Amino acid sequence: MRSVIVLAAIAMVAGWLGLSSPALAQWEETGANGEKTYALKGAETCLKCHDKAPATNMLHTAHAAKGDSRSPFAQHACESCHGASPEHLRKVEGQPRALPAVVYRKDSPNTVEERNGMCATCHQGGKLMNWSGSQHQSNDVTCVDCHGLHTTKDPATSRQDMPNTCFKCHAEQRAQTLRPSHHPIREGQTVCSDCHNPHGSPTQKMLLGRTVNDTCYKCHAETRGPFLWEHAPVREDCTICHSPHGTVQPALLKQRAPFLCQECHMMVGGHSNQLLSNGNGGNDQRIRGKSCMNCHSQIHGSNHPSGPRFMR
Ligand code: HEC
Ligand code: HEC
Ligand code: HEC
Ligand code: HEC
Ligand code: HEC
Ligand code: HEC
Ligand code: HEC
Ligand code: HEC
Ligand code: HEC
Ligand code: HEC
Repeated sequence: MRSVIVLAAIAMVAGWLGLSSPALAQWEETGANGEKTYALKGAETCLKCHDKAPATNMLHTAHAAKGDSRSPFAQHACESCHGASPEHLRKVEGQPRALPAVVYRKDSPNTVEERNGMCATCHQGGKLMNWSGSQHQSNDVTCVDCHGLHTTKDPATSRQDMPNTCFKCHAEQRAQTLRPSHHPIREGQTVCSDCHNPHGSPTQKMLLGRTVNDTCYKCHAETRGPFLWEHAPVREDCTICHSPHGTVQPALLKQRAPFLCQECHMMVGGHSNQLLSNGNGGNDQRIRGKSCMNCHSQIHGSNHPSGPRFMR
């Protein structure tokens, strides 16, 4: 038993002697084939120099939970994300310090795949199931374009900051949410991820539901039915009449009634046509105010035995 320990000690000393600089011994671990790998003392090694925010903010996040065997700090600590970086630990006189193996700044020498790949070693499946092939992945968006790691308040997962995180790239949706009628996104009641999975989904536009309508029913169950009398376009797709981020018409409508309705209900002899062409220049008093909905108030469908015209 004792001889094993002695042998191990000799091996260790031999290992140290094999290193170019004795000072590195405390920082580097030697891999199976003698190659330098991860810092021997993990985060402690890196924190010697990186002892200030933002680097140290990491210590207050889920990623630094040593007790969680899946977390970076239970594995290679900082190097779980920044890669094995022995070259970075060694300052060669007269030369700039080599970068860690993986850095995440905008002008990073690492490819998008390398950067996202570090995160994907731990984050796959679940909400990230459809990441590969998603609009974001195929347009070279990185995890770090949305997520902040050295911060205690991730701008992506924080409901308060999420819209602005998305607006960095989605100026059109930002403008829409500023319109008079809008989902209460700016008011903090609904967030982008109530309707979208930014990591991709099998549905068009990365929607959460199986269809547009399924996405809306989650919160607007009253429009789901089944109704005794269904209004065909409502069953088909809510966005035929509504634009989800914001519009200039009330109730997120794409167009004002009667024009909205007349896109489909313009038959000659039909009363909607008459209401608009009875000499008042479309100003018949019966279509003032709520317009067609003055009478057809159950526009999403009706359960009343005498409701085929959606009037009750
Ligand atoms: C001996 C001091 C020292 C140690 C130990 C050290 N670093 Fe650094 N690190 C620096 C310096 C100095 C810079 C700034 C380099 C520059 O800007 O050119 C830096 C920069 C960085 C950057 C920013 C790179 C960029 O420009 O985007 C990262 C990330 C980093 N270090 C990670 C680590 C990790 C991970 C470890 C532990 C494996 C570590 N550092 C250990 C001194 C150190
Ligand atoms: C979970 C992955 C992850 C871990 C673990 C991690 N980092 Fe980072 N690090 C990043 C990302 C991503 C960035 C890019 C900036 C950001 O998102 O906050 C970054 C940026 C940095 C920077 C540059 C910061 C700047 O803005 O100048 C330094 C320095 C750094 N990390 C050091 C460390 C040190 C030291 C540790 C260990 C204590 C560590 N990192 C652990 C992912 C990680
Ligand atoms: C070594 C594994 C590992 C790596 C590498 C890693 N993570 Fe994590 N991450 C975790 C664990 C474990 C958690 C905590 C999960 C939990 O509590 O369910 C976590 C949590 C998160 C969360 C949720 C935090 C919260 O507030 O709930 C985000 C976002 C995240 N990671 C993003 C990233 C990104 C982006 C990268 C790459 C820069 C990355 N992670 C790299 C293991 C890792
Ligand atoms: C377009 C912005 C965006 C990108 C890109 C992005 N995320 Fe996210 N991520 C979010 C938002 C928003 C949330 C919070 C809402 C949610 O959970 O869907 C989130 C949540 C998470 C969570 C926590 C999920 C949970 O179960 O609570 C993890 C982990 C995560 N992201 C990892 C990643 C990784 C890894 C990548 C890169 C492969 C990535 N994200 C790319 C926006 C993004
Ligand atoms: C109430 C649900 C809902 C919310 C909340 C929501 N969206 Fe959407 N979004 C949709 C629907 C439905 C579509 C597809 C139909 C459409 O484009 O009108 C869509 C489409 C998009 C598109 C694609 C547009 C195009 O023309 O291809 C982008 C980008 C987008 N949303 C970004 C966002 C952002 C950013 C947020 C948060 C600020 C957000 N969405 C919040 C429901 C929503
Ligand atoms: C770094 C830039 C960037 C950020 C940040 C970003 N996106 Fe995107 N997003 C894109 C690009 C690029 C596309 C694909 C091209 C396009 O449609 O503009 C896209 C497309 C989309 C689409 C349309 C998908 C489709 O199938 O047509 C939706 C929805 C979307 N993003 C939602 C979000 C949400 C929600 C957030 C915030 C959590 C977000 N994006 C943050 C760059 C970004
Ligand atoms: C996460 C919940 C949620 C989802 C999902 C959702 N909404 Fe909403 N919606 C709201 C909230 C909250 C309001 C604000 C009015 C209120 O307090 O009832 C609202 C309001 C509306 C309004 C009325 C606006 C007004 O000014 O009267 C319309 C129309 C609407 N939503 C359509 C949709 C459509 C279409 C979808 C699917 C693309 C959808 N909603 C998905 C929560 C949601
Ligand atoms: C044929 C056009 C049309 C379609 C399709 C449609 N709506 Fe509407 N919706 C309207 C009109 C018109 C109003 C305004 C009603 C009023 O002023 O009385 C409205 C109002 C709303 C409101 C505000 C509250 C209310 O009932 O007055 C919500 C929420 C709503 N719609 C959700 C949805 C959802 C969810 C879908 C998809 C399942 C949908 N709508 C499909 C025309 C439509
Ligand atoms: C995208 C096309 C479309 C739009 C827009 C639309 N409808 Fe319809 N509507 C239909 C279809 C299709 C039917 C069922 C066909 C039928 O029975 O004639 C229907 C049926 C009706 C009926 C019952 C007719 C009957 O014969 O029983 C009324 C009333 C009605 N719609 C009113 C409206 C009003 C009011 C609006 C505007 C808020 C509107 N519709 C918008 C397509 C549309
Ligand atoms: C003053 C009340 C009133 C207003 C306003 C009104 N309707 Fe009607 N609508 C009715 C009545 C009553 C019927 C049933 C007539 C019948 O059974 O012959 C009807 C039937 C319909 C029908 C089915 C039969 C047909 O004539 O096509 C459609 C479609 C319709 N309305 C659409 C509209 C549209 C679109 C508007 C707005 C331009 C509108 N209505 C405004 C009362 C109204």
